[in-house]
Amino acid sequence: MLKVAVLVSGGGTNLQAIIDGIENGSITNAKIDVVISNNKNAYALERAKKHDIEAVALSPKDFETRDLFNEALYNELVDRKIDLIVLAGCLVVIPEKIIHEFENRIINIHPSLIPSFCGTGYYGLKVHEKALARGVKVSGATVHFVNEIADGGPIIIQKAVEVQDDDTPEILQKRVMEQAEWKILPQAIDLIANDKIEIIDHLVRTKKK
Ligand code: GRF
Repeated sequence: MLKVAVLVSGGGTNLQAIIDGIENGSITNAKIDVVISNNKNAYALERAKKHDIEAVALSPKDFETRDLFNEALYNELVDRKIDLIVLAGCLVVIPEKIIHEFENRIINIHPSLIPSFCGTGYYGLKVHEKALARGVKVSGATVHFVNEIADGGPIIIQKAVEVQDDDTPEILQKRVMEQAEWKILPQAIDLIANDKIEIIDHLVRTKKK
């Protein structure tokens, strides 16, 4: 059984999609061990508690230095013997020590079709603002492994979503979440939990039976 830590910062609708996936059986062989938020007021923490999942608030603001925060986050994950870290709307930059310790065991959901509209500075509504400003007709979401390059790790799943002429960033964000993010993040976890994929030369491939 894959022991998962979900790292969040906000509303937690992607977390909810994972919880629902585990409860309805579309994700198998995985269990959420803990939900960790850098924001103690994040509604995601309430969602965890409602489903009897341990909810931990760990904020850089509560530590004298960033290094001490990074160390606390590292210890929390290592002490729990976490198998997979899922960044589900997590705004904290993951320290290198965690990226190395959990190599190929951290995944992130990004609200565009990588390599478009990604990298440093592309988060939240900004991603959709840039997509609309460029006039793309299709956007979507990507689940990828996390390495030291922002949004640069191997891509696991992508799903496209149509852009409409009168979209606002908020409308597009909602459509991308509903039609793409909430579907592909649970799917990616299920693939990993059931040992269905592997990374070969930086690319994710379906394992041959
Ligand atoms: C999502 O758009 C996700 O792609 C991005 O942050 C947002 C999180 O939303 N990384 P929620 O907290 O899961 O509702």
